[in-house]
Amino acid sequence: MRAITYTENGGPEVLRLTDSPTPDPGPGEVRVRLALAGVNPTDWKSRQGTPPAGGVQVPGQDGAGTVDAVGRGVDPAVLGQRVWVWEAAWQRPHGTAAEYTVVPLRQAVLLGEAPFEIGAALGIPFLTAHRCLTLGESVPDRLGPGALTGRTVLVQGGAGAVGNAAIQLARWADATVIATVSSPRKAQLAAAAGASHVVDYTQQDVVAFVREVVPKGADVIVEVSAARNAAIDAQVVGMHGAVAMYADDGGAEVTIPVRAQMAPNARWNFVLVYTQPERAKVLGVEDVNAAVLDGAIRVGEDAGLPLHVFPLAQTADAHRAVEDGVVGKVLVDVTA
Ligand SMILES: NC(=O)c1ccc[n+]([C@@H]2O[C@H](COP(=O)([O-])OP(=O)(O)OC[C@H]3O[C@@H](n4cnc5c(N)ncnc54)[C@H](OP(=O)(O)O)[C@@H]3O)[C@@H](O)[C@H]2O)c1
Repeated sequence: MRAITYTENGGPEVLRLTDSPTPDPGPGEVRVRLALAGVNPTDWKSRQGTPPAGGVQVPGQDGAGTVDAVGRGVDPAVLGQRVWVWEAAWQRPHGTAAEYTVVPLRQAVLLGEAPFEIGAALGIPFLTAHRCLTLGESVPDRLGPGALTGRTVLVQGGAGAVGNAAIQLARWADATVIATVSSPRKAQLAAAAGASHVVDYTQQDVVAFVREVVPKGADVIVEVSAARNAAIDAQVVGMHGAVAMYADDGGAEVTIPVRAQMAPNARWNFVLVYTQPERAKVLGVEDVNAAVLDGAIRVGEDAGLPLHVFPLAQTADAHRAVEDGVVGKVLVDVTA
């Protein structure tokens, strides 16, 4: 099969288009003939710093395609089903930047009639967003229509991939969503994703803006830059509210005013999608899939998530685009 591989860590130049053995599914696994792979910051960070699993690594956690082989113990009824794939390359060699991947059955989720562009955009951003939206003490651990009625979610970085996912899921759950952005263009995208209120943090006072919208404070803050925004979050988090910190800010540290956060019994929670509690991950996959089947998840400019599609041979350029902070969702067409 055609596959992008790397055998040593480094920049995008370590990625090679290779003719590699097509993997066979082991017991409990399925093989997926991929249509699209999703690219996320974790892919270039792993390429730079995580030793290749099994010596030869195909990058890419997310993807979408069709089940074309099943391993021992898997019901053949799933053959031919359209699926989205999550965490394909987490501690495994067979990522999604290839014609085929193999994953445990539960990591290939039925996509129904939804387009592959949506399927390949789900895994990392949507499962991270789901975790952020549900880890608080004053919100339910599941999302669905009505789950967040009467709740307010502040999404710091509403034009980012995870920010977009958080807005879409929170709106599906009927929350009021406030999003922060850094430009008029990003404000348009956050609004297109469904944000009820958008504030440009480079021009406006975010604390005053949020207090105006929700005087009692936000129930959940989905935070992309805790190191820079902690002082803001501390002033607008509501009673029993949660600050979900999912980005590492390049290794920066966070300063939190302890006393001020005691009064609301605020929860400051770190998030890594891979290692979240097992129950949270199971519920996240179920809820994200329900949102897709409900028609609530969209991609593209109209959804605040412009698509950038690269052919498989240009996966290195796809990594560069993500590393350079391209606005929107980067996909790799593995069939091109
Ligand atoms: N922990 C996990 O499991 C997990 C999962 C997914 C992603 N991540 C990490 O999360 C980060 C974002 O991922 P992504 O895919 O969403 O990237 P992305 O699409 O590039 O989005 C990042 C967004 O954050 C915004 N931003 C940066 N600084 C900000 C600030 N101080 N206040 C408000 N917004 C700010 C950026 O826009 P402006 O700079 O223009 O404001 C941009 O829109 C990456 O570091 C990624 O590795 C972690």
